[in-house]
Amino acid sequence: MKTYLVTGGAGFIGSNFILYMLKKHADIRLVNLDKLTYAGNLENLKEAEGDSRHIFVQGDICDKELVRGLFEKYDFDYVVNFAAESHVDRSITNPEIFVETNVSGTVNLLQCAKESWLRGGVWAEGKKYLQVSTDEVYGSLGAEGYFTETTPLCPHSPYSASKTSADMFVMAFHDTYGMPVNITRCSNNYGPYQFPEKLIPLMINNVKNKKQLPVYGDGMNIRDWLYVEDHCKAIDMVAENGKVGEVYNVGGHNERPNIFIVKTIIAQLGQRLCDPEIGENLIKYVADRLGHDRRYGIDPEKIKNDLGWYPETTFEVGIVKTIDWYLAHEEWMEHVTSGAYQDYYDNMYQNK
Ligand code: NAD
Ligand code: TYD
Repeated sequence: MKTYLVTGGAGFIGSNFILYMLKKHADIRLVNLDKLTYAGNLENLKEAEGDSRHIFVQGDICDKELVRGLFEKYDFDYVVNFAAESHVDRSITNPEIFVETNVSGTVNLLQCAKESWLRGGVWAEGKKYLQVSTDEVYGSLGAEGYFTETTPLCPHSPYSASKTSADMFVMAFHDTYGMPVNITRCSNNYGPYQFPEKLIPLMINNVKNKKQLPVYGDGMNIRDWLYVEDHCKAIDMVAENGKVGEVYNVGGHNERPNIFIVKTIIAQLGQRLCDPEIGENLIKYVADRLGHDRRYGIDPEKIKNDLGWYPETTFEVGIVKTIDWYLAHEEWMEHVTSGAYQDYYDNMYQNK
């Protein structure tokens, strides 16, 4: 049986990963360490309730004593680090917490893993640290070309600067101490349980409530969309078979301009809810995000060729599945948009 430390497993991708792994592997133990910030939500893990293979621990990845204690108690085979501050807009208004969690938190996990796995100068067999990173570390593309694993790191936002810094510490632990590591860098994820500060769930929620749809700039910034389950499959494969010390880009060539995404959501929901008030008149072009990266696009050839990974969900299928999920989980959306979310929304959007 393999034991994983999964950090940030109550967030969007982390909770999808926990549920994916419980379905996929019978003989597994997943210790889920999550601080339960505004982005963490135990409701995301309801399907795992009562499953003794999943152990939830509320806590901070920066807490040395706590993390050390978990390594002593569970002798982890793998660490998969999802825990992060993940929203670019929040990083523009409050960068410090991004350094704390994304950089210092990662270094703490690396240190605790090293203490536990490096015994008498020799790394214990079969251990691996996997850092879940982002294509945003590569910066922004023009109209042509894709990010490969050798594209120079050139982050622009405080979020991507913190993720880049974390990646460099992960590689430093590999290069300096020989630590067995992998880094995955994926494109924008979408699917169930995504917090409605990110483009797709925010737009679904606003369309449903016939609220204005704030599109930054000219709406022509391009993101490369990856259905979250395809991402979970990639992480599982990299943890098991990724070559130690390697970086793997994860993406499915689903590039779309933001305005296309917004119009797709309007069309889908307008049809589904048969509401004539749902239309493109809800779109409001607003002030652009500072330092807004123009285009992201992943070249996924390495993970395809080396590990046999491929995405199973096209954007057309994935967006319908996602909208279906949000329509079927109104209560989830009501819970996450009550209280603090309203303040966040007002502060973020009132002056745009
Ligand atoms: P999220 O914001 O939905 O979830 C983050 C989780 O981390 C939350 O459950 C939160 O409570 C937890 N957390 C935050 N600070 C913590 C701390 N100090 N200690 C312990 N737990 C803490 O993020 P997500 O979208 O699920 O992203 C997961 C990872 O994937 C992140 O590392 C992010 O950088 C990366 N990533 C995300 C995307 C995307 O499109 N969402 C794309 C590329 C990479
Ligand atoms: P987001 O979901 O925040 O992801 P990221 O910034 O990590 O790519 O944003 C996706 C794109 O959508 C990005 O180009 C910014 C844009 N966007 C809007 O136009 N309006 C919004 O209200 C939000 C949240 C994002």
